[in-house]
Amino acid sequence: MNVSDALATRKSVRAFKSDPVPRAVIEEILLKAARAPSGGNLQPWKVHALIGPARDELVRRAKEQMAKNPRGGVPEYHIYPPELTEPYKTRRFVVGEQMYATMGIPREDRARRLTQFVRNWEFFGAPVGLIFSMDRQMQEGQWSDLGGFLQSIMLLCREYGLHSCAQEAWAPFHAVIREYLKVPQEEMIFCGMAIGYADESAAINSLVSERAALQEWAVIRETA
Ligand SMILES: Cc1cc2nc3c(=O)[nH]c(=O)nc-3n(C[C@H](O)[C@H](O)[C@H](O)COP(=O)(O)O)c2cc1C
Repeated sequence: MNVSDALATRKSVRAFKSDPVPRAVIEEILLKAARAPSGGNLQPWKVHALIGPARDELVRRAKEQMAKNPRGGVPEYHIYPPELTEPYKTRRFVVGEQMYATMGIPREDRARRLTQFVRNWEFFGAPVGLIFSMDRQMQEGQWSDLGGFLQSIMLLCREYGLHSCAQEAWAPFHAVIREYLKVPQEEMIFCGMAIGYADESAAINSLVSERAALQEWAVIRETA
Protein backbone atom coordinates (compact mmCIF):
# COMPACT_ATOMS: atom_id res chain seq x y z
CA MET A 1 0.00 0.00 0.00
CA ASN A 2 1.36 3.43 -0.90
CA VAL A 3 0.61 6.68 0.88
CA SER A 4 -2.04 7.72 -1.65
CA ASP A 5 -3.92 4.45 -1.16
CA ALA A 6 -3.74 4.79 2.60
CA LEU A 7 -5.08 8.35 2.38
CA ALA A 8 -7.80 7.42 -0.09
CA THR A 9 -9.06 4.43 1.90
CA ARG A 10 -8.83 5.95 5.39
CA LYS A 11 -12.23 6.98 6.57
CA SER A 12 -13.93 7.18 9.90
CA VAL A 13 -15.34 3.73 10.52
CA ARG A 14 -18.20 3.62 13.02
CA ALA A 15 -18.95 -0.11 13.17
CA PHE A 16 -16.23 -2.69 13.79
CA LYS A 17 -16.01 -6.44 13.93
CA SER A 18 -15.00 -7.85 17.32
CA ASP A 19 -11.97 -9.68 15.81
CA PRO A 20 -9.01 -8.96 18.08
CA VAL A 21 -5.97 -6.95 17.03
CA PRO A 22 -2.70 -8.32 18.45
CA ARG A 23 -0.89 -6.14 20.96
CA ALA A 24 2.27 -6.43 18.80
CA VAL A 25 0.46 -4.77 15.88
CA ILE A 26 -0.64 -1.86 18.05
CA GLU A 27 2.89 -1.46 19.40
CA GLU A 28 4.32 -1.48 15.87
CA ILE A 29 1.81 1.11 14.66
CA LEU A 30 2.53 3.40 17.62
CA LEU A 31 6.30 3.09 17.19
CA LYS A 32 6.10 3.84 13.48
CA ALA A 33 3.67 6.74 13.99
CA ALA A 34 6.09 8.31 16.47
CA ARG A 35 8.28 9.10 13.43
CA ALA A 36 5.76 11.92 12.90
CA PRO A 37 7.46 15.31 13.00
CA SER A 38 6.98 17.77 15.85
CA GLY A 39 8.28 21.31 16.28
CA GLY A 40 11.59 21.17 18.17
CA ASN A 41 11.14 17.37 18.23
CA LEU A 42 9.07 17.84 21.41
CA GLN A 43 7.03 14.70 20.63
CA PRO A 44 4.28 16.11 22.85
CA TRP A 45 1.85 13.19 22.41
CA LYS A 46 0.86 10.74 25.12
CA VAL A 47 -1.30 7.73 24.46
CA HIS A 48 -2.96 4.93 26.39
CA ALA A 49 -3.70 1.89 24.22
CA LEU A 50 -6.52 -0.17 25.71
CA ILE A 51 -6.91 -3.74 24.51
CA GLY A 52 -9.37 -6.44 25.56
CA PRO A 53 -10.39 -6.23 29.23
CA ALA A 54 -8.60 -2.86 29.64
CA ARG A 55 -10.80 -1.43 26.87
CA ASP A 56 -13.92 -3.12 28.23
CA GLU A 57 -13.38 -1.55 31.64
CA LEU A 58 -13.31 1.99 30.22
CA VAL A 59 -16.49 1.28 28.28
CA ARG A 60 -18.09 -0.03 31.48
CA ARG A 61 -17.05 3.07 33.43
CA ALA A 62 -18.31 5.35 30.65
CA LYS A 63 -21.72 3.61 30.77
CA GLU A 64 -21.81 4.06 34.53
CA GLN A 65 -21.08 7.78 34.07
CA MET A 66 -23.75 8.07 31.37
CA ALA A 67 -26.34 6.89 33.86
CA LYS A 68 -25.46 9.98 35.93
CA ASN A 69 -24.98 12.36 32.99
CA PRO A 70 -25.93 11.21 29.47
CA ARG A 71 -23.34 13.58 27.98
CA GLY A 72 -20.60 12.33 30.27
CA GLY A 73 -19.63 15.76 31.51
CA VAL A 74 -18.21 19.03 30.22
CA PRO A 75 -15.13 18.81 27.99
CA GLU A 76 -11.97 20.57 29.12
CA TYR A 77 -11.67 22.37 25.81
CA HIS A 78 -14.04 23.63 23.10
CA ILE A 79 -14.49 20.72 20.72
CA TYR A 80 -15.78 23.26 18.18
CA PRO A 81 -15.61 27.06 18.27
CA PRO A 82 -18.59 28.24 20.35
CA GLU A 83 -19.81 30.41 17.47
CA LEU A 84 -18.91 28.33 14.45
CA THR A 85 -19.29 30.38 11.27
CA GLU A 86 -19.71 29.48 7.61
CA PRO A 87 -18.59 27.53 5.68
CA TYR A 88 -17.58 25.30 8.63
CA LYS A 89 -21.05 25.23 10.19
CA THR A 90 -22.62 23.83 7.04
CA ARG A 91 -19.83 21.31 6.53
CA ARG A 92 -20.41 19.98 10.03
CA PHE A 93 -24.18 19.84 9.51
CA VAL A 94 -23.89 18.11 6.13
CA VAL A 95 -21.60 15.29 7.27
CA GLY A 96 -23.89 14.62 10.24
CA GLU A 97 -26.96 14.47 8.00
CA GLN A 98 -25.17 12.22 5.51
CA MET A 99 -24.05 9.90 8.27
CA TYR A 100 -27.56 9.40 9.67
CA ALA A 101 -28.95 9.12 6.12
CA THR A 102 -26.79 6.02 5.52
CA MET A 103 -28.81 4.35 8.29
CA GLY A 104 -32.13 5.86 7.20
CA ILE A 105 -32.48 7.84 10.43
CA PRO A 106 -34.42 11.07 9.83
CA ARG A 107 -33.64 14.33 11.60
CA GLU A 108 -36.71 14.09 13.83
CA ASP A 109 -35.74 10.66 15.18
CA ARG A 110 -33.58 11.97 17.97
CA ALA A 111 -33.78 8.72 19.93
CA ARG A 112 -32.21 6.63 17.15
CA ARG A 113 -29.62 9.31 16.46
CA LEU A 114 -28.68 9.25 20.11
CA THR A 115 -28.50 5.45 20.14
CA GLN A 116 -25.98 5.62 17.30
CA PHE A 117 -24.02 8.47 18.93
CA VAL A 118 -23.72 6.51 22.17
CA ARG A 119 -21.79 3.85 20.20
CA ASN A 120 -18.87 6.29 20.44
CA TRP A 121 -18.48 5.24 24.05
CA GLU A 122 -18.19 1.59 23.05
CA PHE A 123 -15.45 2.48 20.57
CA PHE A 124 -18.04 1.47 17.95
CA GLY A 125 -17.38 -2.16 18.87
CA ALA A 126 -13.65 -1.94 18.06
CA PRO A 127 -11.39 -4.21 20.13
CA VAL A 128 -8.79 -1.46 20.65
CA GLY A 129 -9.31 2.00 22.06
CA LEU A 130 -6.66 4.68 22.23
CA ILE A 131 -6.83 7.70 24.52
CA PHE A 132 -4.64 10.71 23.68
CA SER A 133 -3.49 13.32 26.13
CA MET A 134 -0.93 16.09 26.23
CA ASP A 135 0.79 18.22 28.86
CA ARG A 136 -1.25 21.39 29.50
CA GLN A 137 1.77 23.65 28.98
CA MET A 138 1.63 22.83 25.26
CA GLN A 139 0.46 25.44 22.78
CA GLU A 140 -1.13 25.57 19.32
CA GLY A 141 2.01 24.26 17.64
CA GLN A 142 1.97 21.10 19.73
CA TRP A 143 -1.75 20.53 19.08
CA SER A 144 -0.83 20.48 15.43
CA ASP A 145 1.97 17.97 16.16
CA LEU A 146 -0.56 15.77 17.95
CA GLY A 147 -2.82 15.92 14.88
CA GLY A 148 0.03 14.70 12.70
CA PHE A 149 0.61 11.83 15.11
CA LEU A 150 -3.08 10.89 14.99
CA GLN A 151 -3.12 10.88 11.20
CA SER A 152 0.06 8.82 11.09
CA ILE A 153 -1.62 6.17 13.25
CA MET A 154 -4.75 6.23 11.09
CA LEU A 155 -2.75 5.83 7.86
CA LEU A 156 -0.64 3.02 9.32
CA CYS A 157 -3.86 1.26 10.29
CA ARG A 158 -4.68 0.96 6.60
CA GLU A 159 -1.36 -0.77 5.91
CA TYR A 160 -2.33 -3.41 8.51
CA GLY A 161 -5.82 -3.88 7.05
CA LEU A 162 -7.27 -1.97 9.98
CA HIS A 163 -9.62 0.99 10.16
CA SER A 164 -10.02 3.73 12.73
CA CYS A 165 -12.16 6.57 13.99
CA ALA A 166 -10.75 9.53 15.91
CA GLN A 167 -13.17 10.38 18.73
CA GLU A 168 -13.48 13.72 20.44
CA ALA A 169 -16.64 12.24 21.90
CA TRP A 170 -14.40 10.94 24.69
CA ALA A 171 -13.44 14.50 25.73
CA PRO A 172 -16.47 15.03 28.02
CA PHE A 173 -15.49 11.81 29.85
CA HIS A 174 -12.12 13.20 30.93
CA ALA A 175 -12.83 12.70 34.65
CA VAL A 176 -13.72 9.03 34.16
CA ILE A 177 -10.69 8.46 31.93
CA ARG A 178 -8.37 10.34 34.28
CA GLU A 179 -9.43 8.30 37.27
CA TYR A 180 -9.23 4.96 35.48
CA LEU A 181 -5.95 5.52 33.64
CA LYS A 182 -4.35 7.65 36.37
CA VAL A 183 -3.70 10.48 33.93
CA PRO A 184 -2.01 13.28 35.89
CA GLN A 185 -3.82 16.63 36.25
CA GLU A 186 -1.01 18.29 34.25
CA GLU A 187 -2.23 16.49 31.16
CA MET A 188 -5.30 17.38 29.14
CA ILE A 189 -7.25 14.49 27.68
CA PHE A 190 -7.79 15.30 24.02
CA CYS A 191 -9.58 12.45 22.29
CA GLY A 192 -9.96 8.75 21.78
CA MET A 193 -9.56 6.54 18.74
CA ALA A 194 -11.24 3.26 17.85
CA ILE A 195 -9.10 0.76 15.96
CA GLY A 196 -10.14 -2.57 14.51
CA TYR A 197 -11.47 -4.38 11.46
CA ALA A 198 -14.35 -2.62 9.72
CA ASP A 199 -17.74 -4.27 9.59
CA GLU A 200 -18.20 -3.74 5.87
CA SER A 201 -21.84 -4.84 6.07
CA ALA A 202 -22.75 -1.91 8.36
CA ALA A 203 -24.63 0.83 6.51
CA ILE A 204 -22.90 3.59 8.48
CA ASN A 205 -19.54 2.57 7.02
CA SER A 206 -20.76 3.34 3.50
CA LEU A 207 -20.39 7.06 4.24
CA VAL A 208 -17.75 8.78 2.15
CA SER A 209 -17.48 12.32 3.46
CA GLU A 210 -17.23 15.23 1.04
CA ARG A 211 -14.31 17.59 0.65
CA ALA A 212 -14.42 21.23 -0.40
CA ALA A 213 -12.98 22.06 -3.82
CA LEU A 214 -9.27 22.94 -3.89
CA GLN A 215 -9.91 26.58 -4.80
CA GLU A 216 -11.97 27.07 -1.62
CA TRP A 217 -8.96 26.56 0.64
CA ALA A 218 -5.79 26.67 -1.44
CA VAL A 219 -4.00 29.35 -3.39
CA ILE A 220 -1.36 28.01 -5.71
CA ARG A 221 0.66 30.81 -7.13
CA GLU A 222 3.49 30.93 -9.63
CA THR A 223 3.61 34.57 -10.67
CA ALA A 224 5.36 37.05 -8.40
C1 LIG B 1 -9.75 14.84 16.20
C2 LIG B 1 -10.98 14.22 15.61
C3 LIG B 1 -12.04 13.87 16.43
C4 LIG B 1 -13.17 13.24 15.93
N1 LIG B 1 -14.18 12.86 16.78
C5 LIG B 1 -15.21 12.10 16.32
C6 LIG B 1 -16.15 11.53 17.22
O1 LIG B 1 -16.11 11.73 18.43
N2 LIG B 1 -17.11 10.73 16.72
C7 LIG B 1 -17.20 10.45 15.38
O2 LIG B 1 -18.11 9.70 14.98
N3 LIG B 1 -16.33 10.99 14.49
C8 LIG B 1 -15.32 11.78 14.93
N4 LIG B 1 -14.38 12.28 14.06
C9 LIG B 1 -14.47 11.95 12.65
C10 LIG B 1 -14.89 13.12 11.76
O3 LIG B 1 -16.25 13.32 11.86
C11 LIG B 1 -14.46 12.77 10.32
O4 LIG B 1 -13.05 12.72 10.26
C12 LIG B 1 -14.95 13.75 9.28
O5 LIG B 1 -16.35 13.78 9.23
C13 LIG B 1 -14.41 13.37 7.89
O6 LIG B 1 -14.78 12.06 7.56
P1 LIG B 1 -13.73 10.90 7.30
O7 LIG B 1 -12.86 10.77 8.49
O8 LIG B 1 -14.55 9.66 7.06
O9 LIG B 1 -12.92 11.29 6.08
C14 LIG B 1 -13.26 12.96 14.54
C15 LIG B 1 -12.20 13.33 13.71
C16 LIG B 1 -11.08 13.95 14.23
C17 LIG B 1 -9.94 14.31 13.30
